[in-house]
Amino acid sequence: MQLIINDQIYEVADTPDRPLLWILRDELGLTGTKFGCGIGICGSCTVHLDGATTRACITMLSAAQGKAVRTIEGLAEISADGGQALHPVQQAFLDEQVPQCGWCMPGQMMTAAALLEQKPDPSPEEIRQVMDAVYCRCGAYHRIRKAVGRAARQGGG
Ligand code: FES
Ligand code: FES
Repeated sequence: MQLIINDQIYEVADTPDRPLLWILRDELGLTGTKFGCGIGICGSCTVHLDGATTRACITMLSAAQGKAVRTIEGLAEISADGGQALHPVQQAFLDEQVPQCGWCMPGQMMTAAALLEQKPDPSPEEIRQVMDAVYCRCGAYHRIRKAVGRAARQGGG
């Protein structure tokens, strides 16, 4: 079966009931997406399916087939000459020095990018509600919210 990930087509074994996270990490080497709880609770494995967030540990390949999968590896823009421009969410996370251990960061940034694509100017309460659903064991929630607000002000959607 074929998967479309970050605008590239990948051939993977025809196992529609396998979780997308395992294919990304173990078979395709896209290890930016992190394993946390494995049961859909923590959000560290968050990726986009047709622009909406999904938790890859509980998203079966059958649900991803035919959809545009975007992972953290596909968040930055790559120009024709190979140059890379960070997504505004990535830049804001750097500017606010958000990461501590860094493990939750891909899920945080994918969640923030989807939020700002759907709602370019969220209120602080909307940012809190959406972002607090992705666990950060280091407790960086305050900096995460600040960074998402910064990205919104800088046109992160
Ligand atoms: S690893 Fe998928 S939600 Fe925790
Ligand atoms: S930065 Fe360590 S879990 Fe979030």
